Order: sequence, then structure tokens, then C-alpha cells
Amino acid sequence: MEPSGNQIIKLPALLVDQIAAGEVVERPSSVVKELIENSLDAGSSLIDVELEDGGKRLIQVTDDGQGIESSQLALALTSHATSKLKVAEDLHRILTLGFRGEALASIAAVATVEIASRTAGEDVAHRVQGSEGTIEIQSPIAMRPGTRVAVKDLFSAVPARRRFLKASSAEVARCSAALKGAALAHPTVGFSLTHDGRTVLKYPADQSLSGRISEVLGSEIGGRMIAVSGDDGVSGWVARPDLQRRNGDGIWTFLNGRPLRDRVLQHAVREGYRGFQIPGQYPVAVVGIELDPGEVDVNVHPSKLEVRFRNREDVHRKIRRAIRSALESAGSVPSLPLEDSALPDLIPAAGHVEMVSSDVNVERVVERGAPFGDPVACADPLITGSREALVERPNLVRDSVRVFQVRDSFLVLEEIDGLRVIDQHALHEKILYEKILVAREQGTLCQGLLVPEPVPLDPDQWSLFVEYKEALAELGLEAEEFGDGVALVRAVPQGFESSDPADLLREILVKFESVRSSGAAPPDLRERLLQTMACKAAVKAGQPLSPEAQEDLIQGREQAFQPWNCPHGRPSELFISWQELERRFDRK
Ligand SMILES: Nc1ncnc2c1ncn2[C@@H]1O[C@H](COP(=O)(O)OP(=O)(O)OP(=O)(O)O)[C@@H](O)[C@H]1O
Ligand SMILES: [Mg+2]
Repeated sequence: MEPSGNQIIKLPALLVDQIAAGEVVERPSSVVKELIENSLDAGSSLIDVELEDGGKRLIQVTDDGQGIESSQLALALTSHATSKLKVAEDLHRILTLGFRGEALASIAAVATVEIASRTAGEDVAHRVQGSEGTIEIQSPIAMRPGTRVAVKDLFSAVPARRRFLKASSAEVARCSAALKGAALAHPTVGFSLTHDGRTVLKYPADQSLSGRISEVLGSEIGGRMIAVSGDDGVSGWVARPDLQRRNGDGIWTFLNGRPLRDRVLQHAVREGYRGFQIPGQYPVAVVGIELDPGEVDVNVHPSKLEVRFRNREDVHRKIRRAIRSALESAGSVPSLPLEDSALPDLIPAAGHVEMVSSDVNVERVVERGAPFGDPVACADPLITGSREALVERPNLVRDSVRVFQVRDSFLVLEEIDGLRVIDQHALHEKILYEKILVAREQGTLCQGLLVPEPVPLDPDQWSLFVEYKEALAELGLEAEEFGDGVALVRAVPQGFESSDPADLLREILVKFESVRSSGAAPPDLRERLLQTMACKAAVKAGQPLSPEAQEDLIQGREQAFQPWNCPHGRPSELFISWQELERRFDRK
């Protein structure tokens, strides 16, 4: 009898593996991740990754780990075969990165996999090749102890998958990110990545975590990190709060040596920065937590990118506290470097001095609420913000013995502990910028005009206005089309009440010409608009300020989250302690 259309059959092994592969092997970077994890589990100290054509033609990972016995080689390619779990209880105490015994079999179901491996006790490397369900033993070759896994022609038999792959450069970028995560989690292991014969990344072995961070994230970021250490298994380095990003890509989190983009961990890091960073911005941080393996279930998703914590509030609190206390004890105002630079360079124009952070600032820790009212309620009911100690900057108006303006551009403050020079434009720009961001979070952005103002625009300005009026409205500058070539301004952002609405709109549009031609993406566009608005409304360099205006500005500085950088990231103030000044004059 002909089998009916809905007959149930047991799937052939290859199809089972191909289906399973769908969950683990999405693109070259997932293969890179799995192979690196295997090399790390094998105790390797050097791991080299080679790619050809974005990993589509070849992904090869070579390590110097313990290797696989020749008699076991074929098993390594078989599904549900692992050396990492023995009994059911092991599943609740996972100490290795892999444990499912699936990765190599899954990869072999959608590509050709060749393994060459030599253990310390063997003279040659034995080889095996797996492709579409068949396993073939090959002749031994000469090789140093360790394992080399080559994955060729990924998805050649699964064209639907192959079509989803991006251009080589994009796939290489993802592979780099996977390698960077592993490199940050294992700073003592050396890594390299080459693409079509060119070295893309290279990290030497035996690095400290801070050394590795400088390699991976760049020495400029590395030089601005603060150590995090807690008694509760939390460790790592977090960047000073003024180093901020528009997304979470700079937050690297780890659990027991496993890179993890976990929601709880990422959120905890951001919460640690609450009150130190402008709302809506993201920090740069490399933070890991060590937990008893029984406290966490890694067996949630085949790719192991998600985990389940037994007590996630506890994990969240530990990370949040460790970061907060690191930020508090380090303080955040930039000061002049203690070494280097000759005397005439002591207080050059802002922007020309390399700003470094130091702990010698005059900050005191006091109990106080967030400077802009209650912390915003968290989306996650289990994760609540708390009123914890916040670093308070000294009250400059009170503490300053004298304030005066020089070159109509800078404010010089003689303080109890030293001398501060403020770039008036940069500071005011930052104050206005933060005001808009905070008002936007609180929904109090717009200040309606009593009488809406019609603003005639020239054709260029008009076309920019028509294109960007929604984006402007989102930032509090509400205007509508009012006949041809005339915009009707109905509201301005809080803090901009004193500027002439017509001037504000026109100048923003003029400055925005260049942003349009650069073709910025929407979030970037909003950010640029915001910067332009703040820049436009801020006092200018060369503008004389009355003593009251100087005082207002300095008081605004006290309220700001990060007054020491302008929105473009340039420094807005310099500080030099009396002690340091005396040292420079050889008085101490
Ligand atoms: N680079 C390597 N060095 C030494 N042994 C390896 C290496 N790669 C794989 N193996 C061996 O092959 C086995 C199968 O690897 P595979 O990645 O398929 O599964 P796993 O790592 O045990 O679990 P998972 O599927 O979670 O990754 C491993 O358990 C290990 O014994
Ligand atoms: Mg594995």
C-alpha cells in the first residue's frame, strides 16, 4: 500500500543533525564560537582562527590544547558524543563551555569538517573528515600537539541558509566580535584571527585583564577604565562614565568565563551607572561574575547564549553594587596629568590637553537622591533602582574664592583645592544637552510659545525643515508648515526659552545641511540634531558674561551629570590642584 501523505516516519540521522544544526550554526561566527569554546575546554594557550571568504569557504581553528586520542576522533563528529558530561548530575554542575556533544556533529551536517589532532603521547596527528553524515578516516600527518579543525564550504548543501549570509566583511566583523568576547574572558590565552591571509586581530598570551582590554578595546579606552572588584565574585573593569555609547555594544558581560549577552547582566551594569551617566546613554564595561555552577542553568538554549539564574536579583545586585562602588571610589572629574608636559603647557586651551583621570579630586561621597528626582522606574519588576550614595561635586560657587572670565571665553575658578578653568561654551552646551535628554525622559520637553511665531525660510532651509520637522519635534522644537516657505514655531525645548525661535530654527537648519549630506541613520540623526541645538543656544566663546551669568553657569555645572565633557566629547574643563601647581614650580 502507498504510504499516506501524513504517515509518521523516523527522520534519517542526517536530517536530524541538519535540523539541530539550525539552532547552533547560524553563520560563520557561530562556528568560530563553538570551535574556540572547544579549544578553550581543551586547555589551550594559543588559538589561531583563519577565515577565507568571510568564513564561507573556510573556517579553521588551530590550538595547542590536549588533543583528541586517535581512537576517539570519529566519535567527536558524532552527535550526542562528549567527553564533558558523564552522568546526569553533571548537567547541574557544568564547568566547561561545551557539554551537549552536538557542536561538531551539527557543523558536519551543514559543511565538511576535517579534524586533525595529536595528543602529547602521540608522534603524529590523526585525521578524520565528516561531511553530510559520512565519516572518513584519513592518513596521519605531521603536526604539533593540539587540534586543528577545518570547516569548509559552510551551508553548501543548505542554499536557503547560505543566502542569508552577509558580505564577507560583515561576516568577518561578527567572527571578530565572537573572538573578542572569548579573548576578554580568557586574557591569558593568545588569540589570532586572519582573513584571506591578512591578520585581522592578534592578542598575545599571558595578558592581564586590563592589558587585554587595552588590546581589544584600544588603549584610549583601556586608559580610562576603573577596576571593579567585589567579594561576591564580581570583577572586571568599567570605563569612566563620560565615555558613553549610544547602544549596549560596549558592555561585555561574562559568567564563569563564558561571554554572555544576558539581559540581567547587561541591565545590572547599566544600573550600576545610574546617576553617573546621562539617562539613555550606555557605558563601556567589561564585567564578569563567578557563580557556583549549581546556581545557574546553562542548558536553556542550544547556543548557550542565554542562561537561567537561580537567584537573578542577587546576581543583579552584586554586579550593580560592585560597579557603583568602583565609580564612587574613583571619582570622575578629569584633571591634568601629574607627570609629563612642561610648565608653559600647564593650562592650554581646552581640547589641546590630553585629559587623564585620576583619583586626586576633591570629591566627597554623600547620601543623596538622584539629581533629577526619583530614579526612573525599571521595566523589570524584579529589578528596582535604588537610592544609593552618589558622588557629589563640591559646590563651586561656595568653595571658590574667586571666579573671573578671561578672553571672554573661559571662566577661571580659584577653589580651595586648586585651580579650575572652564570653557564657557562647552560647559553651557553640555548643560543644555543634558537638559533636553532628561526632559525627554520625563516627558516635559516642550515649552509652548504664548504666541506661535511664523518664520520665513529660504528654499534650502525649507526643504530641510520639511524633511526633519518630526525629528525636531521629538527634541522639543515643534513647528508646522504654515504656507509655502513659512514655518510656524509652536514650542521650543525647555531651557531655550530665551533664544529667538526664528534664529534657533534657522541656524539649526543651516548647520544641519552637512548632516543631511552625510546620510546619518535616525538615532545618529537625532543625536546630531540635539548637539546642534545645544551648540546653537549655548553662550559663545568671545561673549562677555556678567558676574550673575557666570554664577548661573557654574551652578548649572553642579546639576549636570557630566559637565566635564561637551556633547561632542571634548573636555570642557581642566583642574590642577595647588599641590600639583607647587610641584611644577619645584616648591615641593
Ligand atoms: N579542540 C579540541 N581539542 C580537544 N578535544 C576536542 C576539541 N574539539 C572537540 N573536542 C572533543 O570532541 C568532543 C565533541 O565536541 P563538540 O563540540 O561536538 O561537543 P562538546 O564540546 O562536548 O559539547 P557542545 O556541543 O556543547 O559544544 C568534545 O567533547 C571533546 O572531547
Ligand atoms: Mg563544543
